[in-house]
Amino acid sequence: MIHKQRTHNCCELRAEDAGTSVTLKGWVDSRRDHGGLIFIDLRDREGITQVVLNPEIDQIAHQQAHEIRNEYVIQITGAVSLRPEGTKNGSLKTGEIEVYADELAVLNTSRAIPFPIDDSTEVSEERRLRHRYLDLRRASLRQKISDRSKLVRVIRYFLDAHHFLDIETPMLTRSTPEGARDYLVPSRLSPGQFYALPQSPQLFKQLLMVAGFERYYQVAKCFRDEDLRADRQPEFTQIDIEMSFKSSDEIIEIMESLLERVFREMKGIDIETPIPRITWHEAMARYGKDAPDTRFEMLISDVSELAGESEFNVFKGAIKNGGVVRGIAVPGITDYSRKDMEHLTDEAKIHGAKGLAWVKINADGSYTSPIVKFFPEGLLDKIRRQMDAKNGDTMLFLADSEGIVCAGLAHLRLLLGARLLLIDNDRLGLVWVTDPPLVEYSPEAKRYVAIHHPFTAPKPEHRELLKTDPGKALSDAYDIVLNGTEIGGGSIRIHTRELQREMFEVLGIGEEEAKEKFGFLLEALEYGAPPHGGIALGLDRLAMILTGSESIRDVIAFPKTQRAVDLMMDAPSDVSPAQLRELSIKPVIGKK
Ligand code: AMO
Ligand code: AMP
Repeated sequence: MIHKQRTHNCCELRAEDAGTSVTLKGWVDSRRDHGGLIFIDLRDREGITQVVLNPEIDQIAHQQAHEIRNEYVIQITGAVSLRPEGTKNGSLKTGEIEVYADELAVLNTSRAIPFPIDDSTEVSEERRLRHRYLDLRRASLRQKISDRSKLVRVIRYFLDAHHFLDIETPMLTRSTPEGARDYLVPSRLSPGQFYALPQSPQLFKQLLMVAGFERYYQVAKCFRDEDLRADRQPEFTQIDIEMSFKSSDEIIEIMESLLERVFREMKGIDIETPIPRITWHEAMARYGKDAPDTRFEMLISDVSELAGESEFNVFKGAIKNGGVVRGIAVPGITDYSRKDMEHLTDEAKIHGAKGLAWVKINADGSYTSPIVKFFPEGLLDKIRRQMDAKNGDTMLFLADSEGIVCAGLAHLRLLLGARLLLIDNDRLGLVWVTDPPLVEYSPEAKRYVAIHHPFTAPKPEHRELLKTDPGKALSDAYDIVLNGTEIGGGSIRIHTRELQREMFEVLGIGEEEAKEKFGFLLEALEYGAPPHGGIALGLDRLAMILTGSESIRDVIAFPKTQRAVDLMMDAPSDVSPAQLRELSIKPVIGKK
């Protein structure tokens, strides 16, 4: 086989190139035998070009083409020719031409592939992941991975231009509490001790501010051992950012410029800035969750006060127990049967609700509901007015603790929003969610836990609440949410030792433990730590939404399954007893 330099990629040739001699290399996407002529769709990273083998042009090449199978890697040389009228293919960029090959070389063969490389064949994800390198040959996946690369390029370009320094931080480190379980790495040289893989570079980036770098960023791998969902992976990538001397408003402003650039370059869209902001409390009250999908209305209303005037024991009981009654007005489901309503009730129960109350408002303004009888004359009118419910809407109510009501209604809102096609897919639901509580009480842990992380500063005006009523303190933190997914989050940090110590105390971390776990941080804060703050964008989630993917796995070259397994490499895996011995590790459980 004679090596020849490739002259063009498989997406490059156009009508103007007719008559030139070219050399192409790539994979055989398909081969069609039309009696005398053999047609090969030759594919490379960029696209597809049709190659024709005509026995009258080259007998040997034509003969070789008979042996070729899908996914063989070949090199062809030949002349570009205009396709005859009627055979042009408008859906291919190279659809006006074809290449008549007079030389063909097989660079490598391929076994019969386990599944067709196209988007139309249903193949289980397990099989695809097992042969991820083949699945990645699909044009749609290739495009997503390449879009992700562009996204990183755009972000780096922006941050470099704004004087951020790209600084790497260690992978073998101590655990930083971001709320998930750590992945641990045993140390050989310190038997019985472990490194933790970083859940984020949080403490390192803060220490880089103490070091005086002022503006830092990193495309950082993070590791979290948590239950996986469609938008979560055990290892994922953050665009991690930290700045000194900036207020939260200033950080938000820089991030908005970055997002403007990202949407312009990636989607050709000019986003509106400033991006709307809502407070965390408002998000919880109106959307039931801290990552609201703002592309449609159907907002939650609190009708506790009016509901308390009814004779409905479920409502009265919930309120008596310190709970709330809230509802949403849903358009276009007055034809739902009892069964449909039961189905909605089951959906609400997923989040702990004990039932779902519903009131249909008929076209004439009358009500249909099993609970109408519990409402004195005029009360439902008041409730519907408060909920801004129209004739033809159905009011759905949950009565329970605030947490359950929020979670249940948020779920129903999203479910019905999607089912009733209320979500405007052309709209971008970008919103900042600001000022969350600093801490929340965890009944399981029987102590306060940080909502963002323990290094987040309270709002200056709430600093004193740390001593008196920490649950009431709001933090100087902000999340950026896109279409109901949190794509980033950050905060202004605590930069004095005294406040950090107080914060640890609120979290039930005593002096000794704080010193043991975070001594280095507390000490650093004593050496002229500048005021600082930052944010981390979830790169995978951002890429997932920008590429219109259903799963975060689509934008990760080698993702893990829901069970955190790499099916291709078969990781995690057993290791040899010798390796374990060297690490002073003795497994306490046998193989599952
Ligand atoms: P946080 O924990 O909010 O903040 O993470 C920042 C962003 O990272 C993304 N993300 C994930 N993406 C995929 N899979 C996961 N398992 C996963 N977990 C988080 C989300 C999230 O918004 N150190 C702070 C940032 C800071 O304060 O500057 C932090 O890590 O999009
Ligand atoms: P019950 O009195 O349990 O028969 O319930 C009467 C109606 O109220 C049913 O439609 C239940 O689904 C609904 N319901 C029960 N518990 C709740 C609750 N916590 N919140 C809202 N509706 C409820």
